[in-house]
Amino acid sequence: MNNKRPLEEHVRLFQRYGYGYTITIPGLGRIIDISRPDWIEHVQKTRFQDYVKGKRFRDKTFDMLGNGIFAADSHEWFIQRKVSSRIFTARTFDGMISRTVSEGCGHLQSLLSEHADKPGDSFGIHEIFEDLAMDTFFRVAFNEPVDSLRSSHRLGPSGSSQAEQYKDFSKAFGTAIKVLDMRFVNPCWRMGERFSKSGKEIKDALKVIHGFAGEIISRKAASFRQHSPDSKVFEGGDESTDLLSLFMKHSVATGKSIEDKDLSCFVLNLLIAGRDTTAEACTWMTWRLLADQQDRRRRNEPPSSCLWERLRVELDGLDDYVRRGGNQVKASFDQGRLMPLMYATFHETLRLHPSIPKNIRRATCKDILPNGGPLIEEGDFVLWSDWAMGRNPTLWGADADLFRPERWIDESGSIRRESVYKAHFFSAGPRVCLGQKMAIFEGLQIMKAIIQNFDMELDMSKKYSSDDPASPPPYVNALTLPMKGGLYVRCRKRGGPDRLD
Ligand code: HEM
Repeated sequence: MNNKRPLEEHVRLFQRYGYGYTITIPGLGRIIDISRPDWIEHVQKTRFQDYVKGKRFRDKTFDMLGNGIFAADSHEWFIQRKVSSRIFTARTFDGMISRTVSEGCGHLQSLLSEHADKPGDSFGIHEIFEDLAMDTFFRVAFNEPVDSLRSSHRLGPSGSSQAEQYKDFSKAFGTAIKVLDMRFVNPCWRMGERFSKSGKEIKDALKVIHGFAGEIISRKAASFRQHSPDSKVFEGGDESTDLLSLFMKHSVATGKSIEDKDLSCFVLNLLIAGRDTTAEACTWMTWRLLADQQDRRRRNEPPSSCLWERLRVELDGLDDYVRRGGNQVKASFDQGRLMPLMYATFHETLRLHPSIPKNIRRATCKDILPNGGPLIEEGDFVLWSDWAMGRNPTLWGADADLFRPERWIDESGSIRRESVYKAHFFSAGPRVCLGQKMAIFEGLQIMKAIIQNFDMELDMSKKYSSDDPASPPPYVNALTLPMKGGLYVRCRKRGGPDRLD
């Protein structure tokens, strides 16, 4: 519990004991580390039914997530998975998701331009990424235009009651996530929350979250119920492509009524799955790019050798191609083919900074892992660490610790396709990340908007913004991988005056 760097501890234990080491914690049970592609495939695919999230996971998250997809098992999970997967089809991608992301990127550019107009202004880019991911998600989930980016950062008109409510929701969501995170590292969380301020914090936060989500849901549900279920409104146009409408439509089709409270949990699950993961990936990628820039400057290498500049060349080339009448850049397009270096850099970031760095399942029966693996008893936990796998030289070569996007690109300049059980940061098997395509598209478009239009620099007055690529800033020990203290930067418009500070 006191270990501030538990992910490094997985690496250390693996180096010391090898594959399949176990830890037994009194009161919890036996945990077996299975961070190896063939064992993960066995657990997540071959014997999928026999390894579940289980009651402990649900207990910790129930007040926020209820029986939503992230915490559910078996039939409950299957139904939600089936319905939610309909939102991520090619059609919604080309329409709603790409439109929403490009609108968000427009807001991002306006906000960064304001910072660029104030020389020396340092700001937390991690917060901007969080708000941006939240805005995109709200649009996709509810088809509601909520502007957390614009209201939190005072862009454009503010002070409307919707904007204020949304700001409160966003803040409460951040608080609830922090307390939830603590529950995963503190086995005595229930008792702890009774006697510490975090108990009251999460209670208040959940009131705001469920109140706000509930209000939107009641409004949308009322409008849905006004139309007949076969109505065109929910058949063809944009209205059918928000998650909530899809879910309600499913409930009508199957003759099962769903309470507004369950709808609220359904949406909050997706929000928890999609907001911080995407925002954190962008934060770590920004740090990697800026650290690379500083490192090369210090070694007097030409600016053109920096990843930032090389990405710019690729992105400008892509825009030129489109301007000259090349294929329209559609969201559903293979991003890897359109901008291989960007795609590779995003994936290399996730290899070393996986947004969900570790995960756990409970065995519901006895089993033996393949290829000489250990015996698993019913009730044992299996754990995998994507953090440790990303740094395993057996899987990634002797330079596994180095940030080197080129490892994702083959001799012909195309993206090298890795096994999903090795490059496992979006998970794999039937519970593979549902938002993977959306996350890659969103992450790449956000970073594209920044790299093509701004120059950026780390704010070195913040100690945690280490500029040493070999020693990244620390993370917060949580369910996801937030950068401790956040990432503070300065920016200027591309091609502006030389110095940023
Ligand atoms: C860089 C961004 C992202 C990463 C690295 C990521 C990674 C993951 C991982 C590792 C899991 C498995 C979690 C588990 O089994 O406990 C997962 C599940 C999931 N992700 Fe993502 N995710 C990202 C973004 C998103 C986005 C944007 C959405 C949608 C809005 C999303 C929706 C989901 C859902 C619904 C699940 C649960 C799937 C299930 O249990 O069937 N994710 N994600």
